[in-house]
Amino acid sequence: MRIERLAVLASGGGSNLQAILDSNVPARVALVITDRPAHALERANARGIEAVCLDRRSFADKAAFNQALLDKLLEARIDAIVLAGYLSILDARLVERFAGRILNVHPSLIPSFCGMGYYGLKVHQAVLDYGCKLTGATVHFVDAGADTGPIVFQKSVEVLEGDTPESLQARVLKFEHELLPLAVKLLAEGRLKIDGRRVTVIDNDD
Ligand code: GRF
Repeated sequence: MRIERLAVLASGGGSNLQAILDSNVPARVALVITDRPAHALERANARGIEAVCLDRRSFADKAAFNQALLDKLLEARIDAIVLAGYLSILDARLVERFAGRILNVHPSLIPSFCGMGYYGLKVHQAVLDYGCKLTGATVHFVDAGADTGPIVFQKSVEVLEGDTPESLQARVLKFEHELLPLAVKLLAEGRLKIDGRRVTVIDNDD
């Protein structure tokens, strides 16, 4: 199916959202949704994009939150979803409905330091505590698990002497901002082929 209308889900500053907005993705970011008050909303407003805060704390339970999220995505006729620093886990119904059309960025080399409890600076602190020499950024398709879907792109970052979680995050973030818009562009162009766990890029002249 053609991918024309994107929703970007965020929970924080929205620098990954901004990277998508500033790139040449051949699909329109039609909607930005956050699960809490977040600067990402201001970034969307600045571009005249519909920005909705579905504050997860204002819903009776997860089911109500997930229903509201799905309703909003369907109402906006969204074709694909990008998780850009989004901290809530999507429910299975939503993942099923948008199977093969949800991308996520994670600030480590999956399958290391990912899944429940690994987000933001915690990821980089765990990398340092383990004494890793390499970390990096991963963009992957979202499946029913947490950070477990087929990997689209990865780029490695060397851990330097004296690195702090903040200094490491800053270098990894640069690659997130490079890999996520590229993956979104290829998804919108229908050029990402998923075969089991393997993802390949279909060349333009294929
Ligand atoms: C980034 O490290 C991202 O990988 C993580 O949250 C951090 C902030 O992302 N999920 P953003 O600036 O809100 O896009």
